[in-house]
Amino acid sequence: MEIKVANKRRPISLAWRVTVLVGIATTLVFLTFNWIIVRSLEHHFAEQDAGELQAVANAVVKTMQAQGMQGNKEVMTQQLAAIAVGHHGISYSVLKRSGTPVYVSSGPDLGPVFAGKKSSTHIREERLVIWSADGKSYRGGSLEVPADTIQAGEPYLVAVAMDIDFHLNFLDMFKRILWWATLLVALIALVVAWFAVQWGHRPIRKVSKDIRAIRSSQLDVRLSPTDVPIELEELAVSFNDMIGRIEDGFRKLANFSADIAHELRTPVTNLTTQTQVALSQVRTADEYREVLYSNLEEFDRMSLMISDMLFLAQTENDPRNLRLSNTDVTALIQGLFDYFGVLAEDASITLTLTGKAKPIWADREMILRAISNILSNAIRYSSPGSSVIVSLIQDEKYTSITIENPGDQISEVDLSKLFDRFFRADPSRQRKSGAGLGLAIVKSIIEAHGGTVKATSQNGWNKFQINLPVIHPAN
Ligand SMILES: Nc1ncnc2c1ncn2[C@@H]1O[C@H](COP(=O)(O)OP(=O)(O)OP(=O)(O)O)[C@@H](O)[C@H]1O
Ligand SMILES: [Mg+2]
Repeated sequence: MEIKVANKRRPISLAWRVTVLVGIATTLVFLTFNWIIVRSLEHHFAEQDAGELQAVANAVVKTMQAQGMQGNKEVMTQQLAAIAVGHHGISYSVLKRSGTPVYVSSGPDLGPVFAGKKSSTHIREERLVIWSADGKSYRGGSLEVPADTIQAGEPYLVAVAMDIDFHLNFLDMFKRILWWATLLVALIALVVAWFAVQWGHRPIRKVSKDIRAIRSSQLDVRLSPTDVPIELEELAVSFNDMIGRIEDGFRKLANFSADIAHELRTPVTNLTTQTQVALSQVRTADEYREVLYSNLEEFDRMSLMISDMLFLAQTENDPRNLRLSNTDVTALIQGLFDYFGVLAEDASITLTLTGKAKPIWADREMILRAISNILSNAIRYSSPGSSVIVSLIQDEKYTSITIENPGDQISEVDLSKLFDRFFRADPSRQRKSGAGLGLAIVKSIIEAHGGTVKATSQNGWNKFQINLPVIHPAN
């Protein structure tokens, strides 16, 4: 057996595909999830910080308003310093708009808060600045105090900042936990996906085991489509169909060989017997000639049978091997009437053609052979003096050719076997009939053309009807 190996790389395994895709999907989902959580936490902390910074700034501004910038500087400084008491890690400074510092609490340099940021009268979350100094991180904001509210000659600026290391540390830890959780979940998803694929493939492996167990001696085995998962049902059904066709082919082949042996045995036995009888004593030249003529007849029959069998094997092996052309059925039948004219006249049988058909797209020689086989049967198997009628009917989808002749009723059982190879309906008329291959050839020709042929026997008429689909050459 030849196994065709395509020169292509094998597609990636299903287990790999599913596992990788599930892995990517889970990781992406978790990363998005992480990003959203971290973002909202950061926002939450910023909001909280802004609130606290504003509270401190308010206290500073209140003190400045209460004291007035013209008042006692020392008292002011004391009161400003007192604000820091309730707030841990907070530093703040007050300076004139022109840049002269008025009060600077302990803590980092608040320069970054003023740099590049335009002040407003409130500390806003979106204006907050984050920076690091001396290994610590700070978040700060500033606001402007109008001159008239603090009895001053010019506006003042207040900057407030807080140590946010605690928040940042918390966020870092939280992010680390999230990363590990993502990794863990992705790993679990991968393992589960891998197991799911293996588990999901179990029915496929079972089906393949069942298929492997099928031998040519037990082609009657079928898969049960209801015992496989719904996704594999179609596969099981298709497989059953295929094995059914193979079984059919096997059976036909086996029967065919038996039939051939059987069919060839009779003529060969006849030939042997005749030759033995001829040789048993001395004969005259005429007697030898007679034996040879009789042998020749037998040889002719065998040769016809062999060529019929060869023809059948060829059409059935490759039904696509048709030489299609535009074929005028009416002319074809007229030609056959001429051909069989003498034979029909001898048996006083009249041949009649009725109806019309459009030309068909078919293999002319084969269609000729099919119709000729049925017509010769009709002439051969109808009683002298009767008539054989061929009628053509054309509709949109089919061209139908019916050939009918009066004759003995063919039983239902025989009708079903009529198209089998080597079948002859009436053993008593064996001498009249041929090898029994004529109708088998008709069937294989018509089926190769995508058509159907059926036989009926009613009211003393035997009718053979061929239906050929109308095919347009372009298709
Ligand atoms: N028109 C018919 N009327 C009655 N019986 C028929 C008719 N056509 C076929 N049969 C029966 O069907 C059998 C099978 O026909 P088929 O044409 O296949 O074989 P055959 O005529 O016996 O042999 P072959 O055609 O190979 O020379 C015939 O032997 C005959 O008994
Ligand atoms: Mg025949």
